[in-house]
Amino acid sequence: MIIALALTVALAVLASLPYWLPRSVVALRVWLFARVNGTEGIAIPGDLVDDSRFLEVYSHPAASGRSRGAALSDLFWYWLSPGPEVHQEHLEPGPRYDEVARCTRRILTMPSAVADQLATESLRVALPSRTGLVRLRDLVMPVWAEFYHRVAFGRPATDEVRGLIVDNADDVVTALKCCGLRHMDRRLRLTDHLERVLDDVPHDLPAVLDRRERALYLQGTFFNTAIVQSSEATAHVLMVLAADNALQRAAADEKLLDHIFEETLRRYPLFGVAHRVATADIVLSRDSTIPAGSVLCFNYADFHHSGGHIPFGVAANRPCPAWHLAPVTVKAVTRELLARFAFATSAAHTRPIPNRGPCLMTPRDAPARRRALTLGYLRLRDRWEDVWRSLVQLVLGTYMVWDARRLRLCERYFEASSP
Ligand code: HEM
Repeated sequence: MIIALALTVALAVLASLPYWLPRSVVALRVWLFARVNGTEGIAIPGDLVDDSRFLEVYSHPAASGRSRGAALSDLFWYWLSPGPEVHQEHLEPGPRYDEVARCTRRILTMPSAVADQLATESLRVALPSRTGLVRLRDLVMPVWAEFYHRVAFGRPATDEVRGLIVDNADDVVTALKCCGLRHMDRRLRLTDHLERVLDDVPHDLPAVLDRRERALYLQGTFFNTAIVQSSEATAHVLMVLAADNALQRAAADEKLLDHIFEETLRRYPLFGVAHRVATADIVLSRDSTIPAGSVLCFNYADFHHSGGHIPFGVAANRPCPAWHLAPVTVKAVTRELLARFAFATSAAHTRPIPNRGPCLMTPRDAPARRRALTLGYLRLRDRWEDVWRSLVQLVLGTYMVWDARRLRLCERYFEASSP
């Protein structure tokens, strides 16, 4: 009798795991990260700066420090290695940053029609041929590898080089989401390749950087950030459409697709938090000042939730250089995919999208066989994966936070470069 009761309770606990364990583990992870990282950050919006002053503080000239002086930077430098010290996102303001930012803008500037065509061609060349159960982020990553290879080198990538780019970008985003550890060997294979073929780049690269640094600059901006962000944006848009068949059919209308793209980035902003270091006091009122040296953590999700919408950052403070190119190209790839395939999903869709967008993808004109059964299986698989993944994220995330604190990549870099 007692054994039967214990068994029933154990079974009930086991069956209910997907409903409470992932959430509890995420809460524990957030708590642990806050402990390890310290409480140096000022959350905005928050107690000191509310939604109504979010943009004003983000755009403040003193909200300009990028890496130096923030313990958080050690973690970002760890995730974005190799070459975080020349990654545009992490360069301190100054002539070096200005030249790098100018170069990125020059490379990304092209007419919308050219960008659209380049994206469409990249899809034709690089889309994996599989259908059935797919993960959207993995599905489109080779397409973006092809696209940004063409943008940076002015020519198609070989299968091997595309593989190097995907391995690099996938490793970065997997580590960033704490779903896997970083593998520097995979990343450095791409750096070595880029350094070897650097002379083939048809653009003038920043003269302030040496040869290795130029390879690292290309890697960070075009073969990491560009690929990861474009893949995640495409995965989010397709997840929204896969969950709503009527919307998916209607999205053939360009105007509606524009709206869906905007609304998707409002609900699922790609940046969780962007941080800055105050380089001078920021006076808020007569008796409230943010002291120089404070780390300002701008929370996109909270700001969007309160009605604001800045998918590509703020114009006055290092906005995304792809704010024009990314929407055109993500919509072109989405449009082409929708013309050829139907998407359906029963998986969870969250902002960090750690499940990489599981979907059922079938040729548009194929009859939908065993659709309900497959979607039932997908829902179950997604729920149970969530249980396992949340534990993996807790363990690996804690290890990486610890390892990044140990290596102190950012802190040591600035110590070494101080007079
Ligand atoms: C839909 C896709 C994308 C979204 C939603 C997005 C969003 C953003 C946001 C919000 C920022 C500002 C963060 C801050 O204030 O610190 C940013 C910065 C940046 N993005 Fe994007 N991005 C996307 C695609 C791309 C692509 C395709 C590239 C490629 C080349 C790119 C390169 C960068 C760089 C280099 C920065 C740093 C800018 C600086 O500090 O000067 N992004 N992005």
